[in-house]
Amino acid sequence: MFIRFSFLAIFLPLQLGFAKSNYDIVISNLGCDIATKKYVNELDCQLLRKRIPMVSARFILNQTIDYFDIHATFDLLKKDKSRLNVADIKMDGCKYLGSMYQNNIIGKLFRRLKTVSNLPGNCPVLKGKLFEIRNYTFKSDEFPPGVPQAKWQVRIKLLKRSELVANVSIEGSVVYNT
Ligand SMILES: *[C@@H]1O[C@H](CO)[C@@H](O)[C@H](O)[C@H]1NC(C)=O
Ligand SMILES: *[C@@H]1O[C@H](CO)[C@@H](O)[C@H](O)[C@H]1NC(C)=O
Ligand SMILES: *[C@@H]1O[C@H](CO)[C@@H](O)[C@H](O)[C@H]1NC(C)=O
Repeated sequence: MFIRFSFLAIFLPLQLGFAKSNYDIVISNLGCDIATKKYVNELDCQLLRKRIPMVSARFILNQTIDYFDIHATFDLLKKDKSRLNVADIKMDGCKYLGSMYQNNIIGKLFRRLKTVSNLPGNCPVLKGKLFEIRNYTFKSDEFPPGVPQAKWQVRIKLLKRSELVANVSIEGSVVYNT
């Protein structure tokens, strides 16, 4: 896994185990697109609740996938509409399914994601089967304390070699409880 953080300080506390955060995560927009029907027949994602967000997603593959890569970028969206890239993460999707990346935020998020989904524990990911994530909730205490009150966007690309298979965009903000 390749991770580049520009704001190391934001993510450093992740490794330590920290107290409950005093902010809520808000998701304003969730989108997902199939880039090529060659691999994916159907993909749907829904934002069911915005504050303390709850999301669901489902997809059916047209081809069994033996390997794939995940490329995620995390940007802060500044008031002047410019972006500040905070993190870039590239990882082996099959290893991610196998929970190989346990010791960081990404691994932790996935471990709980698995409890509300029927995603396989490793590759291959079979064609023709309906995979679902049901009512996954973003819990702010799984994120670091003291994150800046800002708008952000996470863009996730699922790739086979360099070919885009599907992409996901999540836009949101954090709101501090006063
Ligand atoms: C997926 O990528 C395409 C091409 O870059 C882009 O036009 C589209 O908005 C993206 N969709 C999402 C949900 O990020
Ligand atoms: C679905 O996969 C089959 C091969 O398994 C292929 O022939 C077909 O073209 C694919 N569908 C699309 C829409 O690409
Ligand atoms: C998901 O949440 C919705 C709305 O709260 C609820 O109606 C539905 O039963 C939940 N589904 C599952 C599988 O928990």
